[in-house]
Amino acid sequence: MRAASVAGVACVLVSQALADRSPWNFITADDFKARLENKEQLLVAFVAPQDELSSALLPQWTELVENLDLTAAVNCTSVPAVCREAKVSTLPAIRLYQSDGSMVRYRGPKKALDIALFIERMNRPLITELTEENLSDFSTIDDFTAIGHFFENDDTLRADFTDMANKLRDRYTFGVHTLPAQDNNKVSTSQVVCRNNVDNLEYKLREFDRVGALEQLFEQCAAPLVIPLNRRTELGFNKIAKSAVYYFSDDEADREAYVDMARPVAKAFREYLVFATVDTNDYPQMPGMFGIQKRGLCLQVLQNGQVYHFTGEDMTAESLQNFIQAVSGGKAQAWDGKSGGTNNAHDEL
Ligand SMILES: *[C@@H]1O[C@H](CO)[C@@H](O)[C@H](O)[C@H]1NC(C)=O
Ligand SMILES: *[C@@H]1O[C@H](CO)[C@@H](O)[C@H](O)[C@H]1NC(C)=O
Repeated sequence: MRAASVAGVACVLVSQALADRSPWNFITADDFKARLENKEQLLVAFVAPQDELSSALLPQWTELVENLDLTAAVNCTSVPAVCREAKVSTLPAIRLYQSDGSMVRYRGPKKALDIALFIERMNRPLITELTEENLSDFSTIDDFTAIGHFFENDDTLRADFTDMANKLRDRYTFGVHTLPAQDNNKVSTSQVVCRNNVDNLEYKLREFDRVGALEQLFEQCAAPLVIPLNRRTELGFNKIAKSAVYYFSDDEADREAYVDMARPVAKAFREYLVFATVDTNDYPQMPGMFGIQKRGLCLQVLQNGQVYHFTGEDMTAESLQNFIQAVSGGKAQAWDGKSGGTNNAHDEL
């Protein structure tokens, strides 16, 4: 009997050793339950390792866990009941289980850096009390920060701001600065200032009467200057009544490099133009519709739908700006709607 149970233990050890060899370092169902019951903060990745989206997460996850202690990955293919019980509907899913027993879904980009910022954010107080001295440092500690400048008796504003913080704390960092009682030398106004530190833009709200004004401020603040087109952003993008500058590419790193380059141009023209990147793996028909073969940039004028192609050798912030000015100054030739695009793509075959 005794020998058998030792063999049983050895067997368990061997199977654990095997499990550990997977780069995910999957946790067992029992360990997962035990750790949740321990009420320790735990960042969990629920994955289906064979799926493309889960594989894409692996290098980012590996980088993240190297620098973070309390993480666990669950193989939903091997323990589907665990994932079902956790009500995980799409894989991969990342969740933060908190020591108070609550759970927060991570909804941002599946990148190590973004996830690390999320953990830092969740470990801050819901709203941090600030003074004049540490206001400006605080406004840049996260991708998106919102600071309420309120008077002592701005009870409704504080309550509304707290509601927003409860809803959006997974994406923004919140602070409050209490304004000194009004005196005649220093006139101040209650306001909420939201900073987008990715694009280095700041938005202010001082009129709080309109319904939804605060929600709108937060939405506007987190909207990227160059919008990555996807199922989530498509609808909002199509409602923007501005001429559009599209950059088509099938390569993520290439699109990211473009965004870094184009950001100042997008900022300079943001009153008139909306900028978007298109992953041509997701929208294979789209470049052809705009007369672009594979990678490339075009500007579509809102009023008449005409399309202009960027034809320069090198795309830099300067050449992009020159191109936009040529189009708006009537000095560029519009695409005839036939040449290039689909036809050329066929020729290539
Ligand atoms: C995940 O579980 C499935 C089913 O048990 C198994 O076939 C697969 O090898 C596991 N994946 C990894 C990377 O451990
Ligand atoms: C800001 O400064 C105050 C007073 O000096 C301090 O109590 C508070 O902890 C500081 N907050 C931050 C976020 O640094």
